[in-house]
Amino acid sequence: MSNTENRTEFGSTLGFILSAAGSAVGLGNIWKFPGKAYACGGGAFLIVYLIMVAVIGTTVMMAEFTIGRKTHKGAVGALRELNSKFAWIGGLGVLTGFIILCYYCQVGGWAMYYIVAYITDVQTVWADPMAYFLNMLGANGFPLGAIVWAFVFLILTAFIISHGTAGIEKMSTILMPVLFVLLIGLMIRSCTLPGADEGLKYMLHVDFSTINGTAILTALGQAFFSLSLGMGVMITYASYLSREDNLVSNTAIVCTLDTLVALFAGFMIIPAVFATGIAPGMGGAFGFATLAGVFMAIPGGQFIGMIFYFLLFFAAITSSTSILEGCVAFLNEEKGIDRKKALVGLSVILFIIGVLYTLSQAFMNLKGIWISRNGIEFPIFGDFLEYLTDRLLLPLGAFFTTFFVGWIWGPDNSIQEATGEGRNKFALAPAYKFIVKFIDPIAIGAIIIAGMVFGMAIS
Ligand code: PHE
Repeated sequence: MSNTENRTEFGSTLGFILSAAGSAVGLGNIWKFPGKAYACGGGAFLIVYLIMVAVIGTTVMMAEFTIGRKTHKGAVGALRELNSKFAWIGGLGVLTGFIILCYYCQVGGWAMYYIVAYITDVQTVWADPMAYFLNMLGANGFPLGAIVWAFVFLILTAFIISHGTAGIEKMSTILMPVLFVLLIGLMIRSCTLPGADEGLKYMLHVDFSTINGTAILTALGQAFFSLSLGMGVMITYASYLSREDNLVSNTAIVCTLDTLVALFAGFMIIPAVFATGIAPGMGGAFGFATLAGVFMAIPGGQFIGMIFYFLLFFAAITSSTSILEGCVAFLNEEKGIDRKKALVGLSVILFIIGVLYTLSQAFMNLKGIWISRNGIEFPIFGDFLEYLTDRLLLPLGAFFTTFFVGWIWGPDNSIQEATGEGRNKFALAPAYKFIVKFIDPIAIGAIIIAGMVFGMAIS
């Protein structure tokens, strides 16, 4: 579905949901979310996050879906068609996506590294999970393995983009449900480990004193990242939808699926952190070092661990392709650059920046260029890319999108599109209108400004 000249429509609603959910469900849910929930106070963070998704996430997604299906164009073209002065919002999204990809491909490579580690070297992983993880990132020398696997991940992403995404969409129909079921199983096992109840308490105990500016901004950025919002991906996906598809139920389903996966991952990983005592010294270790304790406690844990990392890799590649496709399509359609050339050029640059990300995890650690926040240490370079996208660029993209729908294109036009010209019900339309016009731009704008004024130390 990458050819815009012959814009083919999704064969079925299920196909669309799987593709949109495939983009949404990824490293954001399994690798990022538990780390943020852990750092920002557990239960109270979950509540803030759920409110962000329910109020802001769903309405931004609806805004993007309606823009896309109305115009049947990718992000930049869609905005241009609705109002030529606003095409740049799509351009901003492309830039954001490119920056995300720089580190996304690296972490996707870590997942592949762990598939192999579980096949060939599981005893070493289990002997000291944290040391293994840090070793992969170069604690004891150049992190060649991690970088090679990140390269393979990127090549696979580029290969899928150039050969069409139909294949992985088919695979999604099987693998996404398998991932879902596996996460539930692992979550149950993790929660029943001896000592896991402390982690469960941490995730269920709501103490709003842990909610400060950082936590709110983190929840907002995480919601956009996880739902693939604020950078036009969902505009592009919806552009392939037919008039018959129900945007209201699609929005509800994609947001629910994505949030469930994040919650499962949170309740799989945090109890394991407490049960195993593997306190991650850095955000990046979530989903890698912390899970070893769960796999060790399961019969056939080596095999299940391998399957888990394979599914994590798969979830990551269905997201990375959705981002890279947007970047390539932009250069091709807007700048007239040949698709192959655009693909190679982008890949080379993002790989170089990505390697710096991985190296920052390793060598900056050794040289002590770390900062400490909430008792958790972060390497500066990797942090910087994440902050730039999650705390600034994605919220900005979402801010401009909702401002555009609320005040330029008009919420009534968006609602008209959402209901398929009145064909399907949208009971919450009045709420949507109010939120997209007032709550979204004001809340997102306020959070961005607070984040910029108070910087990273906002609390
Ligand atoms: N939502 C994806 C994830 O959670 C990442 C992503 C962000 C994909 C933005 C597309 C656009 O892993």
